Amino acid sequence: MPASGTFGYGEEFEPFLPPGTFSAIVPKSISVERRQGNPPPRAVETPSGLLNSIGLQNPGLDDFCQTHLPRLASYRSPILVNIVGRTVEEYCQLIERLDGLDGVAGFELNISCPNVTEGLRFGLDPDATCQLVSAAREKTRLPLMAKLTPNVTDIVEQAVAAREGGADSISLVNTLRGMAIDWRTRRSRIGTATGGLSGPAIRPIAMRMVWEVATAVDVPVCAIGGTFSSTSVSGRPWCRSGPTCTGSPPVSPTGSRPCGNTSPARGSSVSTTSGVPSNRPGNG
Ligand SMILES: Cc1cc2nc3c(=O)[nH]c(=O)nc-3n(C[C@H](O)[C@H](O)[C@H](O)COP(=O)(O)O)c2cc1C
Repeated sequence: MPASGTFGYGEEFEPFLPPGTFSAIVPKSISVERRQGNPPPRAVETPSGLLNSIGLQNPGLDDFCQTHLPRLASYRSPILVNIVGRTVEEYCQLIERLDGLDGVAGFELNISCPNVTEGLRFGLDPDATCQLVSAAREKTRLPLMAKLTPNVTDIVEQAVAAREGGADSISLVNTLRGMAIDWRTRRSRIGTATGGLSGPAIRPIAMRMVWEVATAVDVPVCAIGGTFSSTSVSGRPWCRSGPTCTGSPPVSPTGSRPCGNTSPARGSSVSTTSGVPSNRPGNG
């Protein structure tokens, strides 16, 4: 399966990948309202992975249903719609509208975003994770996959909470928070201070988390993170992973940047491209 956000809504891939290439399609996260995303630049290559700051840009639920979903459904592959919300109610609204539409075979809950009502990130708090998944569970009988963020101390705690809430499977990992600084300007190389790191750099971390979760829960675990070739999935059976999602390709040799001397001078401050320090998370 394509990892959410790395395949868009399929359109750009049509010339390269015939419909049916994937066992299932996972489109980019959809929210109730259209989202503009973060200021550019939104992605930079780092020595071993991609740092992105897309900011969950998406066309919103109405446009997705009218424009993108019919085309995705024409590929005749099951669609696992990745949904994201700012409140539990928004996740529920998304499911209520999408459940039963042609091609929709299940939902991947992107639970790494802030809950505006509670003021904390769903995916960082086991209770919030459990409540969110339970509420989603009540809205659908289709398969629910809970996508976890790796930016936690104990991934098993989150996975167990998602399972208790009624998740049929767990997918992990989303991107890891990271930074890339232009040593000349001493500013972030992306439009926000931090972004989400993906690609080969995160594969060992993803694999460790998949193994930890797969040995702790009784549902399939979908492995995501740094998967690009058949070699990179070869360790997955060992860690009892179920299906695999593939996303960011490895950094090209010509595109990679030298590791040395790229960090800012000690004690220097870090700012975004706008010069304003920001804690706004920049991934996805
Ligand atoms: C450009 C980009 C956009 C992404 N957008 C989303 C998104 O909308 N929703 C989501 O759940 N994950 C999103 N992700 C995270 C990926 O689905 C995946 O979890 C992550 O990239 C790790 O896999 P990889 O190393 O194979 O790329 C995005 C990743 C990238 C690189």
